[in-house]
Amino acid sequence: MILYNRPMRLFSQTFSINDAEQGSGQPAGRAAPAGSLTFREVYADYAAGTPLLPAARQALLTWLDALPGNPSSVHRRGRLARRGLNEARRELASCLGADASELYFTSGGTEALNWAARALAAHGRQSRKPLILCSAVEHQALRRPLEALADEGGCRLQLLPADRYGCLDLAAAANGLDDPETGAVCLMLVNNETGVIQPAGRLAALCRERGILFLGDAMQAAGKLALDLRRLEADYLVLGAHKFGGPVGTGVLYARQGSPLPPLLYGGPQEAARRAGTENVAMAAAMAAALRTRTDELVETEARLSLLDQRFCDGLRQLDGCRLLVPRQLRLPGYISVLLPRFDAETWLILLDRAGIEASAGSACAAGALEASPVYLAMGLPPEKARHVVRFSFGWTTTAEDIDYCLQVIGRTLAKAASRKDEL
Ligand SMILES: Cc1ncc(COP(=O)(O)O)c(C=O)c1O
Repeated sequence: MILYNRPMRLFSQTFSINDAEQGSGQPAGRAAPAGSLTFREVYADYAAGTPLLPAARQALLTWLDALPGNPSSVHRRGRLARRGLNEARRELASCLGADASELYFTSGGTEALNWAARALAAHGRQSRKPLILCSAVEHQALRRPLEALADEGGCRLQLLPADRYGCLDLAAAANGLDDPETGAVCLMLVNNETGVIQPAGRLAALCRERGILFLGDAMQAAGKLALDLRRLEADYLVLGAHKFGGPVGTGVLYARQGSPLPPLLYGGPQEAARRAGTENVAMAAAMAAALRTRTDELVETEARLSLLDQRFCDGLRQLDGCRLLVPRQLRLPGYISVLLPRFDAETWLILLDRAGIEASAGSACAAGALEASPVYLAMGLPPEKARHVVRFSFGWTTTAEDIDYCLQVIGRTLAKAASRKDEL
């Protein structure tokens, strides 16, 4: 792969300053931090996308090479493809505590959330319960389709407030559940910008007691939190492979047996005639392999990331003016949102990138936009402060050296800024 005009090795690249000076691969336009720091590439954007796991790559390539394959064909290769698809669905279902018949393959989270939003609106119209409650910190992949449906008159939408850490205000949500017009409630399990773990289990149970449908966005939770749909009383759940080591462009909509699910695409009989079109066996198999790996390694990864998280947060606390937004006990380990002083987040991202560190600000989909993230605003951060928040999200390839390097780069950048040198 060629990026920055040079062969790219992701996630663990290091260069000594001397190597870089001799032109042995320092990326064009990137500056090694001055002094004795060794240039290093640190991928700190796991919330946006994760490296493809070896097991997922293996499954992807095996199926791509194996078949012209259409799972609807009756011949041997067709039957093989069908078997591959069924196995992938079963594997995913077993990771989630679901039945295979409850899983529908999609092109990713956005499609699955749009589909679920339409299902909720259709249910609201039929049951004369058109009100949909949705947290104020939901991803735009859900918020926008709900707003569009509301604009078309397909539902009414009410946002549920979050507290200063971005956690749903459960008491306000419970009040909304008592409105006789409430037909559905939506909440992400883990917030993509802060890593905050939402009280989805409790809210889903309250919904179940009242016969209200519950949609959970598990895009940031799958493969990172233990998910068991036998206990989580969600009617719909959404996941996407590129957040847990699978390829980008594939995801799953879970719809509990009996939950209304009008067809998304009309055509052939695929996906129980609800999403027509030839299924992508290779992507499904890769997604299943990735979720299996992450589920099996969940406890170990969480323990490792907790230590790295603590190391990073302890280091940030030593740096003047850095403010951590969310305490560790409220979020997944490895998602660290920090208000960095002196420069706005965009400038920080450029400075970090020049030093080899890939982080993010706001949600990746909104990157490039100058507005402060709606999530930070919903948390009550004034816009001028929200514009300073940088999100570091670490994962299974992150090492202690990566963390120390990030701290050193931030520390040096702040020190240089303080001494007003303009060589940043
Ligand atoms: C919480 C959440 N929901 C939905 C999405 C959209 O998913 P996709 O990128 O697969 O369309 C994302 C992606 O960042 C996300 O983090």
